[in-house]
Amino acid sequence: PSTGPLHGLRAVVSTGGTQEPLDPVRYLGNRSSGKQGIAIANALRAAGASVDLVAAHVDVPLPEDHPDTASATAEHPGLQVHRVGTALELQDVMNRFGELADVVVMTAAVADFRPATFAESKIKKSEDSDDAPVIELVRNPDILRGLVQRRQESGARRIIVGFAAETGDAATDPVEFGRAKLARKGCDLLCVNQVGTDLVFGQDSTKVTFLSADGAAERRVEGTKDDVARELTTLIAERVARTD
Ligand code: C5P
Repeated sequence: PSTGPLHGLRAVVSTGGTQEPLDPVRYLGNRSSGKQGIAIANALRAAGASVDLVAAHVDVPLPEDHPDTASATAEHPGLQVHRVGTALELQDVMNRFGELADVVVMTAAVADFRPATFAESKIKKSEDSDDAPVIELVRNPDILRGLVQRRQESGARRIIVGFAAETGDAATDPVEFGRAKLARKGCDLLCVNQVGTDLVFGQDSTKVTFLSADGAAERRVEGTKDDVARELTTLIAERVARTD
């Protein structure tokens, strides 16, 4: 169709894992592959939105860039990829594009901490002792909370979606955790999934529960990351239709 349910809307999606440099050759990173955020960017684009995809480190090819919106057609609105490294860079780009967006999806795995200092030259081991350095960390800002706060201040109508990757355990229900997180973050939708070293991160299939702030949606999706992306697109389109 020449007009999808999100036709004429702008979306910004973050994906991948941030990398926080320690010295010129080392960083603190995480296992996020970027697959879920890429699937979401493609699904939003297929629904008619023009999409800015903000990619931290990813393990898979990024979609093709269509930087020239003149080359975008009604069926294929623009998709532009922006690369970032650290959480602070991601925050800067998300705030910039978030300002203009109707839909913001924070799929990226953001490092909660970064090294307090960056060593200009490679950190070396001592040759005459077994001493190991102690690395001091500082907190990174919560980008998602910041985006919610900026929306509040501007009074804009903008749908903001967060993700929660809970490792959980036998005693804790990840969905209960998710509810508390949704309230804390203040976003409209939260996609809760359970992760472990070989579960979800980097995998093609996933198991998630969508929670919504207004209580209107609680949907489970078990399937591929494309299935999750399509369900999220449907939930977003429902909200867009309601506020029209
Ligand atoms: O607090 P937690 O890391 O579990 O929250 C996950 C959600 O918050 C994800 O949407 C993630 O992209 C976002 N996040 C963020 N800034 C951080 C940490 C997480 O925006 N520093």
